[in-house]
Amino acid sequence: MFQLRHKILQVLHDQHATTLQLLERLEDLLRRSRPDNPPPADDPQVAAFLSELAAVMEHEVGNHFAFEEEHLFPRFSRVSDPGIAAMLGDEHEVIRPLARRIAEVARTARAEGFTPAAWEEFHRLGAELVEREVFHIQKEEMGFLPALDQILDPEDAEALAETYSNVESG
Ligand SMILES: [Fe+2]
Ligand SMILES: [Fe+2]
Repeated sequence: MFQLRHKILQVLHDQHATTLQLLERLEDLLRRSRPDNPPPADDPQVAAFLSELAAVMEHEVGNHFAFEEEHLFPRFSRVSDPGIAAMLGDEHEVIRPLARRIAEVARTARAEGFTPAAWEEFHRLGAELVEREVFHIQKEEMGFLPALDQILDPEDAEALAETYSNVESG
């Protein structure tokens, strides 16, 4: 893990770490319970994980994605390769419905347990989400955030941090 100069980028970096950790736990759950073998959603550990997964995924594709799209991709495109920001934005479009749907299935399962069909869907979407989202975050961590850290003007970065903290506190 590295340290970024600008607080706003460090905040996004920390959120990536939280999401990656959740995705790792999701992968574990998928590995432990095959598509035809739903885990008990009322098991306290499974139940807590489902709630956390739903909350983190909704935040990731909500506030986090929106902030990147609205504020960071345009700044990056102005001084660096716009193709990179366009590619990251396209990935958001694919990941967003997946994450929203999995959050929905997780919440329903939390309340009512997994039906065989719900678990099969969760398993399928979960595997795709892990693959796409981990790859997406890796790209942002390796290229995008470090480059932005060089590009951003300190005053602009301060203002962005303020904007995001207002968004986050709702
Ligand atoms: Fe992103
Ligand atoms: Fe991100």
